[in-house]
Amino acid sequence: MNNFEFYNPTRIMFGEGKISELDRVVPKNAKVLILFGGESARKTGTLNEVEQALGSRTFDHFGGIEANPRYETLIKAVDKIEKEGFDFLLAVGGGSVIDGVKFIAAAVNYPGDKWEVVTNRGSTIKTALPFGTVLTLPATGSEMNKGSVITREELHSKLAFMSDHVFPQFSILDPVKTYTLPTRQISNGVVDAFVHVIEQYLTYPVNAYVQDTFAEGLLKTLIEIGPKALETPKDYDIRANLMWTATLALNGLIGVGVPQDWSTHMLGHEITVLYGLDHAQTLAIVLPSMLTEKLAQKQAKLVQYAERVWGITSGSDQEKALKAIELTREFFEKMQVGTRFSDYQLTQEVIEPLVNSLAAHNMVKLGEHQDISLDISRRVYTAAL
Ligand code: NZQ
Ligand code: ZN
Repeated sequence: MNNFEFYNPTRIMFGEGKISELDRVVPKNAKVLILFGGESARKTGTLNEVEQALGSRTFDHFGGIEANPRYETLIKAVDKIEKEGFDFLLAVGGGSVIDGVKFIAAAVNYPGDKWEVVTNRGSTIKTALPFGTVLTLPATGSEMNKGSVITREELHSKLAFMSDHVFPQFSILDPVKTYTLPTRQISNGVVDAFVHVIEQYLTYPVNAYVQDTFAEGLLKTLIEIGPKALETPKDYDIRANLMWTATLALNGLIGVGVPQDWSTHMLGHEITVLYGLDHAQTLAIVLPSMLTEKLAQKQAKLVQYAERVWGITSGSDQEKALKAIELTREFFEKMQVGTRFSDYQLTQEVIEPLVNSLAAHNMVKLGEHQDISLDISRRVYTAAL
């Protein structure tokens, strides 16, 4: 196992009815800004529930944070906060709202060009406004991590930053809040969480037995409950397990002391920024061909994945690895997420723009060995047509 430091200060309040406990965790005298996405938070009644729970505190709203949150929108919230002086932020939504609020929290009072928060990958963040979250979509793990992914439309950039200053103070996870999610978002959530585990697990062995076993448990849980989450949308236990699995998939725990990959995510971000596909759709396209491309280097872990997660016991190591990749693709398709560019009416013409976009964002050495060059990325995209 590699050396590591683990820090995660986010309080998780999990279960039905937990929104009513906001009163306990939001500072009594805070002037609160509630931030949300499009119409879902209002339509589902969650916004109203949040307002009730805030009691007599002064609050205002900022709505309209879109999926794949944009700098151009978020900067308006930064402006409002700097002018009107809020001292606590409350994100109500999925990963996009939470990521957006992380940027806003760090950008308020940031000296100089606020886009640097993102371009410096969070390294120049010295302080951030405190915030909490009410999660309505299990997928990203943003509710319990220090990462955020922001799009700047005018620059065609979708970039991630990280900082200890942007851990949520608390996150409320009420599985009932997921009942209103459209099928597509549940599918996306399962695939995103699955790929988060894979990016931290499917590299090379470092004898991190407990991280491996945790990761395999999360993957097996997703394989078991993912389809059920689509079939029986109001099954509390299924939704509860999905919500907690997605959080654990990217709260840092399984990623400590092990090499990490993240190349599938980096190639995926370019697809979203250029062609507007959902985050998870891009991962479902890239992952199977990335794993096939890196078959030799990842073979030891692929065999472990095949045996322990998919129960494949026969065949050579290479056959086991290939079978596991095939079953991974089938799983995504069973979750109704297409795994080829052609499923989204995208053709050969997208490849060069995607490779150029990777180059523009300096994504030229990716993966756990930092050896995925632009040429290899081109091959991966091409194999996914
Ligand atoms: O905008 P509204 O009307 O609220 O609708 C949203 C949105 O359109 C809807 N929704 C959310 N909760 C709902 C609901 N509809 C009905 N009922 C509910 N309870 O769902 C749509 C998608 O929401 P979004 O927040 O975009 O989805 P998700 O949670 O999948 O977040 C995706 C974003 O997270 C980033 C992605 O890149 C993408 O920008 N990621 C963030 C990570 C992190 N911070 O650690 C890691 C991930 O790899 C990921 O990159
Ligand atoms: Zn993701």
